Amino acid sequence: MYTHSSEATDQAAGLRRLSRYRPVKVMAVASGKGGVGKTTVSANLAIMLARQGKQVMLLDADLGLANVDVMLGLNARQNLSHVIAGEATLEEVIIEGPAGIRVVPSASGKHNMLNLAATEQAGLIRAFGELTHDVDILLVDNAAGISDSVVTFARASHEVIVVVCDEPRRHTRVHGGGAA
Ligand SMILES: Nc1ncnc2c1ncn2[C@@H]1O[C@H](COP(=O)(O)OP(=O)(O)OP(=O)(O)O)[C@@H](O)[C@H]1O
Ligand SMILES: [Mg+2]
Repeated sequence: MYTHSSEATDQAAGLRRLSRYRPVKVMAVASGKGGVGKTTVSANLAIMLARQGKQVMLLDADLGLANVDVMLGLNARQNLSHVIAGEATLEEVIIEGPAGIRVVPSASGKHNMLNLAATEQAGLIRAFGELTHDVDILLVDNAAGISDSVVTFARASHEVIVVVCDEPRRHTRVHGGGAA
């Protein structure tokens, strides 16, 4: 059963306290299925909002299979895995993307990032609360499904955008062995 613990409340506050100067709106993009367009929606929404004059930060929270930087044609030297390993600060891994959005890249193919301990997730979210950037909107591009990290990021957000796909269910015919 889900209980809204005070620890979870503290984590959520960390993500929302991104700007010292004005309140930050945190929006998570999520889906049950993979490959339905979360990263595409996140990147396009981030750029559209930036073009409307908002200060936007885009967090790649698909922690082990990240691709926001690739989709935006960016070259990220460091990412959240370096922050988790204590090799970089969150501030140091942020890069600038199209329309001036700030991108927080994550790692791809790093198994340990898929299984962050609750304390590491909490530390990461707290680190966002300590950033001094002026941000109006923080968009969080999540992994597919409802893993612990997805639920943690969703709980720390004001709104969750769920991307769905209307692809009709495929009926797969199973062929038996033997001669055709
Ligand atoms: N509206 C769309 N119409 C057609 N193709 C799309 C659309 N949105 C995304 N795609 C394509 O679908 C593929 C998956 O998109 P994307 O990476 O955004 O999905 P995702 O939900 O983030 O995937 P993952 O669950 O792996 O993170 C990409 O090849 C993308 O170009
Ligand atoms: Mg994605």
